[in-house]
Amino acid sequence: MSEDTHDYVFKVILAGESGVGKSSILRRYCQDRFNLDERFTVGIEFRTRTMQIDTSKIKAQIWDTAGNERFRALTPMYFRGAHGAILVYDITNHQSFRNIQYWLDTILDHTNLSGIVILLIGNKCDLDKIRTVPTDEARMYAEERGLIFLETSAKDSTNIEIAFNVLLKKIY
Ligand code: GTP
Ligand code: MG
Repeated sequence: MSEDTHDYVFKVILAGESGVGKSSILRRYCQDRFNLDERFTVGIEFRTRTMQIDTSKIKAQIWDTAGNERFRALTPMYFRGAHGAILVYDITNHQSFRNIQYWLDTILDHTNLSGIVILLIGNKCDLDKIRTVPTDEARMYAEERGLIFLETSAKDSTNIEIAFNVLLKKIY
């Protein structure tokens, strides 16, 4: 599909603690590749992918933010105008799940569009053996706040396509 023409551009932001796999999820979605030694993100980067929904061509412009505290002051500026947000934690790191509330509050404080669609992702589900965040705990958290919820693995591709498809269709 040509990247040049499209009917809609949807801006989506990725947020969550450093190391949870935000850049890996985006790389898997846009390039179908995975790096075991993915470098931490400096500031902000974005990638795009075009998809078809019904008869419309949708260009997803996905902004990948740095989880590192050094960039915290900068990130919220990029939340403006977002149609969707993906909040990511690591299922083997309970602290990264507890920090989701911070990112959720920051996004809700800085978005100007009402009805932003938010997806909560528990990533690294290939590491189920060392999981510290029970699926039910995260599902309940998401339900209480009206977030869509999925567990993914950027490493083995589990639910990556589905996650973006569900989010973009809900925005559409
Ligand atoms: P910042 O850019 O610092 O905010 O981190 P990030 O959230 O972008 O994390 P990143 O994608 O850089 O991934 C961090 C580490 O986790 C890398 O070593 C990845 O290879 C690894 N990783 C990412 N996703 C997965 C996954 O689904 N499974 C496993 N096993 N490792 C993963
Ligand atoms: Mg990153």
